[in-house]
Amino acid sequence: MDIKIVNGKDGLAKEAANYIVEHLKKRDASVLGLATGSTPVGTYKELIAMHKEGKVSFANVHTFNLDEYVGLKNTDTNSYHYYMKELFFSHIDVPEDQFHLPKGTAEDIEAECHTYEKLIRQTGGIDLQLLGIGTNGHIGFNEPGTSFQSRTHVVTLDESTREANARFFDAIEDVPTHAITMGIESILEAKDILLLVAGKEKGEALSELLYGDVREDIPATALRKHPSVTVIVDTEAYQAAK
Ligand code: F6R
Repeated sequence: MDIKIVNGKDGLAKEAANYIVEHLKKRDASVLGLATGSTPVGTYKELIAMHKEGKVSFANVHTFNLDEYVGLKNTDTNSYHYYMKELFFSHIDVPEDQFHLPKGTAEDIEAECHTYEKLIRQTGGIDLQLLGIGTNGHIGFNEPGTSFQSRTHVVTLDESTREANARFFDAIEDVPTHAITMGIESILEAKDILLLVAGKEKGEALSELLYGDVREDIPATALRKHPSVTVIVDTEAYQAAK
């Protein structure tokens, strides 16, 4: 695992955006796995700025997001479809048919999980997967206890995750109870993984990732089994993890 320690949110955004741009420069085309949440917002901003300066194009990029809430329409401001369009896709040159998120409103949610996996495979698999980490060590919406052999599946969200995400909704009752997420095994199939960690509240989860035992209770520890993981962490989270 390669650890890069940076200063603050701006440092993290710049380092992560540069990493992604360098990744894209080395290839004619790439499949990116993307994340939502507050941590990558600055990275998307930075990528948009670099795109506007002519430093990067996404015309040959396909993207697959990690997860989506069950039951929210794409136009719902809390859906991850909406987040990705607003904060990233509508500002760059990625063609509409090249970005993908699980369909949380699919009639048959189980079938949607299989379709999503199949599409990832047909597109050639994920080259670079961007990840954040939950305070409980989750990655994607894979909560503590999720099997390391899990593929894309439907999950019941932990109360702690619903509480953490309630800040985006009017009330906690509005936070969906279920989501579709890529599984741990699906995530580990990415050729390279880039994990972003910011803020002291992530210290405990980071400490488990760096120094704890690899175990399903802390989903992020699965990353220690992957041969190419880069962690960009701000000083606050790094110090809190010691
Ligand atoms: C989002 C996702 C989640 C978040 C995690 C951290 O697509 O998969 O695992 O990365 O909950 O969220 P923030 O960045 O809001 O602290």
